[in-house]
Amino acid sequence: MKLQKKVAVITGAASGIGKAIAELYANEDIKVVLADLDLDSAKAVEEGITRSGGEAKAVKVNVANLADIENMIAAAVKEFGTLDILVNNAGITDSMEPAGDIDDEKWDDIFEINTKGVMRAIRTTLPIFLEKGKGVIINTASTGGLNGAHAGAAYTASKHAVVGITKNTGFMYADKGIRCNAIAPGGVDTNIASAMKNIHGFGASRTKLSQGAMPRIGKPEEIAQVALFLASDASSFVNGTVITADAGWTAAF
Ligand SMILES: NC(=O)c1ccc[n+]([C@@H]2O[C@H](COP(=O)([O-])OP(=O)(O)OC[C@H]3O[C@@H](n4cnc5c(N)ncnc54)[C@H](O)[C@@H]3O)[C@@H](O)[C@H]2O)c1
Repeated sequence: MKLQKKVAVITGAASGIGKAIAELYANEDIKVVLADLDLDSAKAVEEGITRSGGEAKAVKVNVANLADIENMIAAAVKEFGTLDILVNNAGITDSMEPAGDIDDEKWDDIFEINTKGVMRAIRTTLPIFLEKGKGVIINTASTGGLNGAHAGAAYTASKHAVVGITKNTGFMYADKGIRCNAIAPGGVDTNIASAMKNIHGFGASRTKLSQGAMPRIGKPEEIAQVALFLASDASSFVNGTVITADAGWTAAF
């Protein structure tokens, strides 16, 4: 993929999709900053990558905190000299609440992490990419960012917003050597559901109607392959768009 010596920041790199992206990138000789709220698990990923001959640096980051975001980008420059690839992957789910039962505080939490964190990381990174005249941004959206039947209202809206900033950023900086794309994974076997508490019975029952069409659950490594394609020049003509990776699930609708 000719990505040797590139530097990537990956949020949510301690688990699931982010971990798989970090390990695949490191395998391609990309130097990776592993940004996660869970520093112990991020350090375990760092150790694994280092043991396999790769270069990685774990950093404790809450993507809902601006100072942490700025520190995360500064850490890439301090540790590895620059930044070439930003992967905004950290995200949390709701508990399937429909609009009638959304709690303001939970809505805000989900938007701070899933949406505002993405904007802030892009905003903090852009001066570096603009100065270099190149750079790649990859956002982990969701099939829930394209459809209405996969989660609760807050998660669905937060991921639709990620699709929006992806398209806007891709277009705005299209002639500056910067590409911004999103991945919309379908159901993937990660730890994300473990944080779901008090699942909303009615909301969940509505999402089940669409889940019946899901061919299978994906593996994080299958999403990582899409993130590798989007990071590389193999996707040089792909910008401001969303690649769905869901085994054909949403082709049903
Ligand atoms: N698993 C799926 O089925 C699926 C489907 C579509 C989209 N996604 C998206 O994929 C992304 C990765 O999720 P995953 O499924 O790998 O989940 P995961 O829970 O396995 O991993 C998420 C990681 O993000 C970290 N994180 C959570 N909040 C954070 C914060 N505020 N700051 C920094 N790090 C934080 C967690 O500590 C964890 O390591 C998310 O954006 C999620 O919405 C997942």
